Amino acid sequence: MTTSKKRALTGLRATGNLHLGNYLGALRPALELSKTYDCLYFIADMHSLTSNRDPAALASQTLDQVATWLALGLDVEKHILFRQSDVTTVTELMWYLSCVTGLGLLEKAHAYKDAAAQGNEVSHGVFAYPVLMAADILLYEPDLVPVGKDQKQHVEMARDMAGSLNAIYGDLLKLPQPIINEQVMIIPGLDGRKMSKSYNNEIPLFCEEAILRKKVMSIKTDSTPLEEPKILKGTLVGDLYALFGTGQQYEDLSSRLQSGGLGWGHAKEELFVVINEHLRETRARYMEVRRDEEALKATLRMGAEKARTIANATLHRVRYALGFR
Ligand code: ADP
Ligand code: TRP
Repeated sequence: MTTSKKRALTGLRATGNLHLGNYLGALRPALELSKTYDCLYFIADMHSLTSNRDPAALASQTLDQVATWLALGLDVEKHILFRQSDVTTVTELMWYLSCVTGLGLLEKAHAYKDAAAQGNEVSHGVFAYPVLMAADILLYEPDLVPVGKDQKQHVEMARDMAGSLNAIYGDLLKLPQPIINEQVMIIPGLDGRKMSKSYNNEIPLFCEEAILRKKVMSIKTDSTPLEEPKILKGTLVGDLYALFGTGQQYEDLSSRLQSGGLGWGHAKEELFVVINEHLRETRARYMEVRRDEEALKATLRMGAEKARTIANATLHRVRYALGFR
């Protein structure tokens, strides 16, 4: 990353199997940016600790995510893929930011407010989540931070925290811009709600064909009899078909449904075929890459080294400015 291109950074927590919502809403748009920007992608395993307390699962899900990035074609020589916990100085910057961040700002965070509203006992980790996220961002001085809508507030809070530190100590940290891809829709899950691990309605990104087929066939449809005409548009099957099939394929399925004689079962079968075709090659690559854990760990070591170089330069400057001379 020695080019003068702008820099983009994004993180994804290591939590369970990635699904098609994660793929279309986060992974694919983030990868798209690697054509134009120098990118840093990291696995936010420290953030995962607010909900994941299973060490073996965390370790394995971290490698799943590395394999996913590689299978999707990320060039780890040109860009940086690393694990958050490999650059522990992020928690040092977190402390500096904590000292200039008011409780009032943190109390506004949606995630904290939701957890508190449910009457749950909220850990300090959940409360301080936005400060760690700000440190993640500010440490690497990105120009842009591509995130889903749900994370926009966190990037704005990172800007606030950088502004507070800069106001006291001089122009120290770069203020990043969030970029929200408004075109990326919320991908619906098998029951029509947002596809999410929390709803157990997801279609996994990489799973065996038989499981993928079973998932797709379980999509809820209405009970219009086989011979009746059916409208594809506006249905869950239609929405998913539009995401994976070509425009031509969509028109074709739509008109055959409209003519009657084609059941939703058939339509779902065709939906399975287009999703499966779309994922087939990447899935095979994933299965292959995932097997070689030593190679995945080596990829992480290479990324960590590159990430540390950037992080150290930032911290060196910050420490001096704070008076640690
Ligand atoms: P989940 O809801 O399954 O726990 P996460 O909250 O871990 O997923 O999401 C990780 C990333 O994937 C976020 O950037 C989020 O915006 C994106 N994402 C998750 N679900 C969807 C969806 N159904 N549609 C579009 N993007 C999604
Ligand atoms: N909080 C993000 C999420 O839940 C993950 C994340 C952690 C992140 N640190 C980040 C995203 C820094 C962008 C930049 O999806």
